[in-house]
Amino acid sequence: MDWVIETNDLTRKFGDFTAVDRVNIKINRGEVCGFLGPNGAGKSTIIRMLCGILVPTCGSGMVLGYDLVKGSEKIKRHIGYMSQKFSLYEDLSIKENLEFYAGIYNIPYSERKRRVDEMLSMVELHTRKRELVANLSVGHRQRLALACSIIAYPSVLFLDEPTSGVSPTARREFFNIIQDLSNQGTTVIITTHFMDEAERCDRIAFFVKGKLLALDTPDNLKNSIEGCLLELNLPDPMGQIDFLNSLPYVKESYVNGEMIHVLVKEEKNIRDLADCFGVLPVKIEPSLEDVFIKLSSFR
Ligand SMILES: Nc1ncnc2c1ncn2[C@@H]1O[C@H](COP(=O)(O)OP(=O)(O)OP(=O)(O)O)[C@@H](O)[C@H]1O
Ligand SMILES: [Mg+2]
Repeated sequence: MDWVIETNDLTRKFGDFTAVDRVNIKINRGEVCGFLGPNGAGKSTIIRMLCGILVPTCGSGMVLGYDLVKGSEKIKRHIGYMSQKFSLYEDLSIKENLEFYAGIYNIPYSERKRRVDEMLSMVELHTRKRELVANLSVGHRQRLALACSIIAYPSVLFLDEPTSGVSPTARREFFNIIQDLSNQGTTVIITTHFMDEAERCDRIAFFVKGKLLALDTPDNLKNSIEGCLLELNLPDPMGQIDFLNSLPYVKESYVNGEMIHVLVKEEKNIRDLADCFGVLPVKIEPSLEDVFIKLSSFR
C-alpha cells in the first residue's frame, strides 16, 4: 500500500517539553482524516511538521513519498495549508487575493484567470469577487482562505481549525466542499473541535498530550466503548460524580450537558443504579463525544 502520509515515531520537543510524542500514523489517498484532541494536544504541531515547515526532533515521516526533512521543499509544492491564523490581504478584493496566491504558487499566466474563476465558483464567491476582504464576514473569509489554499490543486490539503467562529450552516457548507475535494482524490487532514464535523470524517485521529490514542472510523470508535452507557437525570450532576465513580459496577461517569453519563459494566447494573438513586437511568448509544471524554481522561 502506498500511503500518502506515513510517520514513524514522529516527535517534536520544545526545550524539555514534548509536544508530539512518537506518533505513528498512516493516511490513504482521498481520505478525510480529522485530527481531534484537547487544546495543546499537539495537532497543529504535527500538521506543521507534515507540511515541512517545522523540523521533527526525532522520528521520521513521508508525505507523498517525500521525506519530511530532506524533501520539505518538494512537499510544500504539492500541499495546501490553511493555518489556524490564515492570512488574507484585507485591502485587496476577493479576486485579487486569489490572483496573488496564484502568483505565489507560480501558476502559469495563461492558466490564472481560469483557475481564479474555478475557485470563485467552487466556494461560491463569484458574485462578490470585487468586494474587499476587509468587508467580508468570517464565514466568507474562511471560504476565500480555503480557495487560496487549493488554487494550485494540492494532492494533500491541511486545514487547521478552518471553521472555528463560523455559523453551523457555514460550517456544513464548508465541509461539503471538503468532501467534494476528497471525492476528487485530494487527501484532507482537518483539525476540529466540532463533533458534527468529526462524524463526517472517514477516520479520526485522536491526540492527547502529544500522543496518538486512537485512529479509526467514527463508527468503530463508538463501538469500542465496552460496557453499557446510561444517562441519568439528577439534581446537582457535578456533585454526584465522586460517589458514582466509587460504585463497584461503575466504570466511569461524567457530566454531559445537563445529564450524567454513566458507563456501567453490564446491562443488569441499570437496576442497581435505579435502586441507588430512585431514578431510572436510560440506556443510550455512545456518541463521539462520549468516546472523546473517555480518551481525554488519559494521563
Ligand atoms: N514554538 C513553540 N514553542 C514552545 N511551545 C510550543 C510551540 N508551539 C507549540 N508549543 C506547545 O506545544 C503544545 C502543543 O501545541 P499545538 O499548538 O500543537 O496544540 P493543538 O493541539 O493544536 O491545540 P489547539 O487545539 O489549542 O489548537 C502546546 O503546549 C504548545 O504550547
Ligand atoms: Mg492547534
